[in-house]
Amino acid sequence: MKKDVIIIGAGAAGMMCAIEAGSRGRSVLLLDHANKLAEKIRISGGGRCNFTNRQVKPDNYLSQNPHYCRSALARFSPQDFISLMDKHRIAYHERNHGQLFCDDSAQQIIDMLRQECTSVGVEWRMACNVKKIYKNEYFTVDTDQGTFSADSLVVATGGLSIPQIGATAFGYRIAEQFGIKVTSLRAALVPLTFHPQDLTLFADLSGITIDAAVSCNGATFRENLLLTHRGLSGPAILQVSSYWKHGDILHINLLPDLDAQQWLQEQKNSLIVLTNLLAQYLPKRFIQKWCETITPIKPMNQYSEKELHFIANQLHDWQITPSGTVGYKKAEVTLGGVDTNELSSKTMEAKNVPGLYFIGEVVDVTGHLGGFNFQWAWASGHAAGQFV
Ligand code: FDA
Repeated sequence: MKKDVIIIGAGAAGMMCAIEAGSRGRSVLLLDHANKLAEKIRISGGGRCNFTNRQVKPDNYLSQNPHYCRSALARFSPQDFISLMDKHRIAYHERNHGQLFCDDSAQQIIDMLRQECTSVGVEWRMACNVKKIYKNEYFTVDTDQGTFSADSLVVATGGLSIPQIGATAFGYRIAEQFGIKVTSLRAALVPLTFHPQDLTLFADLSGITIDAAVSCNGATFRENLLLTHRGLSGPAILQVSSYWKHGDILHINLLPDLDAQQWLQEQKNSLIVLTNLLAQYLPKRFIQKWCETITPIKPMNQYSEKELHFIANQLHDWQITPSGTVGYKKAEVTLGGVDTNELSSKTMEAKNVPGLYFIGEVVDVTGHLGGFNFQWAWASGHAAGQFV
């Protein structure tokens, strides 16, 4: 069977590309090895899909080429996706930092994209395993459901996170097959693990959250930090994990709204015990353990100036060196991917392989937490869909 376009990967980017290409009158075959459509959309945002963010900027993305994402993001904005939601009467709401979620269920977005694909004549092959791809006059894709050819081949197979629901390294392998570089890959937006000594100290505090500012390698995120039975999680940690590399120290400001130096000085004649004082701002159980690692616990009037200075510094810069991440089984995304130097930022086409396109998470463009990764999937899918 010969089509204009074959898209491998019927996830967020693949479906958006299919809609745009189909609406231009291109014949499109969308194939996926999974039985169920767009499982990542279904499980995203706790089942409500944080489908975009009102404040999308190129600065919200990590890539070896931070400018690569600009063109596609400028041509398909959050408002463009919102208009699609409005057309399908899908209710949504805004949470912190401009994040938009479905009121009811992420499944509504999957149904919407499926309907849009169907309305422009996209053909599907689900549970379809690709055995071989080659290029002569056309791209030919050998699968367990037959052999298909097309002028354009779009790779939209996503990243490595959550292999349980079908994530594979297939897209990177296709890139390599065609001589296209892939940058180094690692799990991102992922919980971090404690070294055994920290685990012994903090593991029984699992479930406690702290509003903190967490920094690493020049990036700082002010959000909740969650202590888990393995280490640290919560939005602040997930965000900073994209900047963290093995051996790096996390700098945690436990009192980002306060001048701890001044506050502790003001209490230096008080009989209040340090832990009770800090419990005004921080969870009591956490602060008890944390203080034990920092200083002897006593009434405020028994600390020296030097000790108060040290405690204040620790409150503003608690340093933890994680042992690692919990890996792709729990990561939201893969950092790195198909090298953007090899692709056109306008069309997503490989510069040296005409007709071959890479979109979505398989590309070395990784968003912050908060709807940015779906916005990249929609925008890059839409961009390629205009040219395939
Ligand atoms: P996506 O992973 O969506 O699709 C890839 C498709 O390719 C899949 O259908 C897969 O089956 C298919 N495929 C893979 N290998 C194949 C092969 N060998 N043959 C055929 N098909 C193959 N982002 C966000 O912005 N807001 C959010 O709320 C969330 N929440 C979230 C929660 C969780 C738990 C995770 C794991 C991730 C998120 N994300 C997110 C990230 C977001 O889901 C992700 O960035 C996008 O789904 C990427 O879209 P893609 O279309 O590139 O890949």
